[in-house]
Amino acid sequence: MDTLLSVLELKKTYEVKKSIFSSKKDIIRAVDSISLELQRGSTLGIVGESGSGKSTLARCILFLERPDGGKVFFENKDLMTLKKNEMRTLRKDMQIIFQDPYSSLNPRKRVLETIGEPLLFHGYSKKDDLISKVKDILKDIGLNEDFLNKYPHEMSGGQRQRVAIGRAIATNPKLIVADEPVSSLDVSIQAQIVNLFLDIKEKRKISIIFVSHDLNIVRFISDEIIVIYKGKVVESGKTEEVFYNPLHPYTKMLIESVKADFIKKEPILNDNQHEGCAYYPRCNIKREICKKGSPSLTGDKIHKVACFVFNQPF
Ligand SMILES: Nc1ncnc2c1ncn2[C@@H]1O[C@H](COP(=O)(O)OP(=O)(O)OP(=O)(O)O)[C@@H](O)[C@H]1O
Ligand SMILES: [Mg+2]
Repeated sequence: MDTLLSVLELKKTYEVKKSIFSSKKDIIRAVDSISLELQRGSTLGIVGESGSGKSTLARCILFLERPDGGKVFFENKDLMTLKKNEMRTLRKDMQIIFQDPYSSLNPRKRVLETIGEPLLFHGYSKKDDLISKVKDILKDIGLNEDFLNKYPHEMSGGQRQRVAIGRAIATNPKLIVADEPVSSLDVSIQAQIVNLFLDIKEKRKISIIFVSHDLNIVRFISDEIIVIYKGKVVESGKTEEVFYNPLHPYTKMLIESVKADFIKKEPILNDNQHEGCAYYPRCNIKREICKKGSPSLTGDKIHKVACFVFNQPF
């Protein structure tokens, strides 16, 4: 197997004031010792409810935010030890796509500049070459040449997200991290954009980390899935395994809520206040032992779970 990215015990905590009148602070463990691996050419889905730490994990993997601890290896390079200019060069291999293309695209820039900019930044200099390269990218993202001169406000949400994808693939990256890339779009458009991701992955052999709260979408696009809750991986494995044979009660709950078309919208409180398993207060199969510590992720390459009820014989 050819590993592109390895993440080892990554950690990110935030301190937030309990209230505006209080000097007391809560420690939020947004990413609480997460490890994962991404193989070249494959797609890893990251799922969890709002507030579970998905975006923080995505940002820390790309070092858009510096993790407090742990390691990220990209093609065996330890990102923590890279110098600024080395990191800058590596950026062209690692791109991010955000949820809302309207805020991630510059409203004053036409598509030619938006997609051409990263190419210029990474050394493209001839104007004619640049235009023909951007035209090629437009083809790949399913837009015709008329879009070259359009501004974001002249396009639909789906078209804007296509442009954001075009910008991300312009430098021919090895990894794209897409953070809820279809959540702001109409359901009818979501499938088209997911198909575009599949297309790009196939044609360009790009590895993708696809973040979403919607297990149905993640299931469709991912080879493997990790499920996170309060900054920890509670279950991971091959997509079909996790979806058809979920072990953790949290994963089961997520799958049920997708079936019932009900996903909790308000963020979970990531306060890490109690001892024991983070899922204890919500768990419907909890036992005494679950109060005592945090279960570790155990299993094989196909399927892992962090749950005392599964991992300890009673
Ligand atoms: N810059 C920050 N300062 C303080 N707390 C933060 C910051 N960013 C994230 N958090 C907190 O970290 C936790 C994880 O947030 P994060 O945005 O990573 O979750 P998420 O899974 O991406 O949620 P959503 O589905 O709503 O996007 C939350 O409790 C959040 O309030
Ligand atoms: Mg998020």
